[in-house]
Parts: sequence; C-alpha cells; structure tokens
Amino acid sequence: MYQVVRNEKYDFIGQSYATVYPNLHKYPATMLPQIGIEIFNELDIKSGKLLDPYCGSGSSFASGLECGLTEMHGFDINPLAILISKARFTKVSVNEIVATKKELRNNVYEFLKNEKNIETLKPPKITNIDYWFSTQVIANLAIIKNFIEQIQDENIRRFFLIPFSETVRECSYTRNNEFKLFRMKTEDLLRFNPDVIGIYLKKLEDTISLYSNYYYPKLDKNVTVNVQYSTFQPKDEYFDVVLTSPPYGDSRTTVAYGQFSTLSNEWLGVDYARKIDGMLMGGVKPKQNIKSGIIADYISEINKVDSKRALDVSAFYNDLSFSINQVAKSVCKGGKSIYVVGNRNVKNVQLPTDQFIAEKFERNEFKHLITYKRALSNKSMPSKNSPTNKAGKTVNTMLWEYVVICEKKR
Ligand SMILES: C[S@@+](CC[C@H](N)C(=O)[O-])C[C@H]1O[C@@H](n2cnc3c(N)ncnc32)[C@H](O)[C@@H]1O
Repeated sequence: MYQVVRNEKYDFIGQSYATVYPNLHKYPATMLPQIGIEIFNELDIKSGKLLDPYCGSGSSFASGLECGLTEMHGFDINPLAILISKARFTKVSVNEIVATKKELRNNVYEFLKNEKNIETLKPPKITNIDYWFSTQVIANLAIIKNFIEQIQDENIRRFFLIPFSETVRECSYTRNNEFKLFRMKTEDLLRFNPDVIGIYLKKLEDTISLYSNYYYPKLDKNVTVNVQYSTFQPKDEYFDVVLTSPPYGDSRTTVAYGQFSTLSNEWLGVDYARKIDGMLMGGVKPKQNIKSGIIADYISEINKVDSKRALDVSAFYNDLSFSINQVAKSVCKGGKSIYVVGNRNVKNVQLPTDQFIAEKFERNEFKHLITYKRALSNKSMPSKNSPTNKAGKTVNTMLWEYVVICEKKR
C-alpha cells in the first residue's frame, strides 16, 4: 500500500535557500538543501557515494557536503547548470581569486582607455543580439569576457564566469524576474542603461564573499564532486544514495531551463543554446501513449481532451521511466533513492508523479519506504500556470511537493 505522510518538518516555513547554502547563481526550481540535510539525518546517512542524475545548480551536493558525504556525482545537460555546480563545489584558492580579480579589473580599465581597442575583439555569436542587448552592453560584456578567457587556471576561469553569466542576464533587455525569455516594455528599454563593468565587479565581489564563507571551508581535500555535462551514465551497483529533484514535466510546458539559460549559454559559447529545452526530458514525442502502470489512466483522461498534450506527457514519463531503470541498477543493495517532485496539472488532470516514481523503483528491486508531503512555499518557480493553455486561465499547479523514499532490497 503506497503511503504518503504529511510532514510539516519538511515545510521549512520562513526559510529560504540562502538560510543554509546561498547559491552562487540563480537557477530555476532549485531544491532546498535543507530537505536533503533533514532526510540524510533522518536516515542516518553520513557517508557513501551520492548521485544526482539531474543535478541542476547542485543543491543535493550542498546537502551531502553538510552531512559529511565526500564522493558525489552529478549529471545535467544544461551547460549553465554544470558551470554553476562545478564552480560551487570545486576548491580554489580564495587568495588567487582575489589577486586575479585585481588583475582583471586593472586590465579592463586599461583597455577602456583606448576606444579603438574594442575593434580588436571578436563579436560574440548571439542570436538576435541587438534585440537583447544595447551596443554599449555588448561591448562591455565582450571586454569582460575577453579578460576572463585569458585566465589560465580553468577552475578560476570558471569561477569568474559565474558573475559574468549573472551580469549577462541583468544587463540584457530580458525581464529579469521571469524565467522565460521576455523582452522588457519599450518604455523601460529606453531608460535602461546598466553600468556593466560596475555590475560585474560587484557581483564578482559578492560571489567571492559567498564562496569563501559557505563553500571554501567545507571543501576538504577528500571531497570530490564530479559533475558531468551528460545524461546519466549508469554504473552497476556503485552509488549508496540518490538525492535528486527531477523536472516536473517537459521543459517547454513546465520550467524552461533552456530558455532561462539561453543568453548566458550563448555568451559562454554554447552554439545549440536555443535547442536545449528540446533536448531535456520529455523533449521527443513518442508515437503512442503509455498504456500500463499508474500513469496510464491519467494520460488517457488528458487524451480525451487533447491528444497532442497526452503525447507530451507520455514523452516525459517514458524518459523518467528509462532514467529510473538506469538509476536503480546503479544503486548498491540497501542503498536509498530520494526523489523530490511535484505533481503537475495538465488539462485539469493532476498527474501522480510521486506514485509513478515509487512504482518504477518497486519494479526495479526497490521497496518504497515512505513519501513525505511538504508544503511548497520556497521553490523559486511559478506557482500558477495555464494547464488549459487558454490565456489568463490559470490554476495553482503545485502547492505540495513530495519526497519519495525507496530502498534497494538486499
Ligand atoms: C528541478 S531541476 C534540478 C534543480 C537542482 N536540484 C537544483 O537545486 O539546482 C531539473 C534539472 O534537470 C535537468 N534535466 C532535464 N532533463 C535532463 C536529462 N535528460 N538529463 C540530465 N539532466 C536533465 C535540467 O537541465 C534541470 O537542471
């Protein structure tokens, strides 16, 4: 019997992401590291190898690090996610970062003294660049990027790209409080004249401060966080615990990770930046709907009103199912899987993703231990969407999140 328990301890009312581990860069739908910390304490997990197959900006590693885990592995196919995760969990000398910052600032100001210098820089390859950036902003971003690229040490260079990516977003014509790419209103655009270099240096300063206070002291020599730009690559019975928050649905109709990251990814040199949402889970439509298991009846309900949406939903659960099969065989006997998910609403049908996950693990030699239901108040994602796809008609998509805990049979 599938058991869901409302557990208020996991609500973390009044707490934000920053309460425990401030992130170094914004990312959509981040998982609260507090959830992982609490669950590790409850399950008495203090060591072992951790896996996050959809690691995003790396919140699960923050939970692992806080609880003493030293070997962690993550996968994601959004290059921006990998950049953030690597920057957060790679040990670099703070003194070297500070010295490099000084050098970079001097170089930038020297360069700016001669207006002709800008002509020596290669223009960046950004789709519709003038639609998203003013000429002035493009020039200043290109100058900063030029000097970041000259940093020899790969880890330090990556660190400097974090505030750069944040600056790209802040100085573009995008509406900054939205995850999707929307341009500001014309009247706002005319007044918009950001001090790019000033913003970058301030963000760099803040990133250094967060890193040296929250990350550096915990990144001992024996800690390894291995993050790969890839879909999950299985490894037989290798991991002791999986902690992850998979997407809630396909990227186009739920959280558009690719769109959120597009301008940053393009400035970072990713030439397929605009294709990322189609590459994420649920991106490729199947020929037919899922016909078995807990999710089949729900998809069949959606199919009655919208057959295309039913196929989108099937695509997502097909991918999630395939991934769980791979993850399950990669966990050691007695190992735990912890999935933090939301049950999205499509065409007024609430999809039981939590039960789907438990069911899939149970079919792969796991036992479902328990699912905790927590009030969703902290996640940085829209709480409403338009599941009917009619403009203005919105419903609350997810007010709850589910922490699905399973154990591999011994
Ligand atoms: C809910 S977010 C994870 C957020 C993360 N827990 C954090 O706190 O930053 C889901 C992630 O799954 C990634 N993703 C989607 N499809 C994927 C796939 N097929 N393989 C690997 N990662 C994928 C997205 O790029 C996104 O970063």
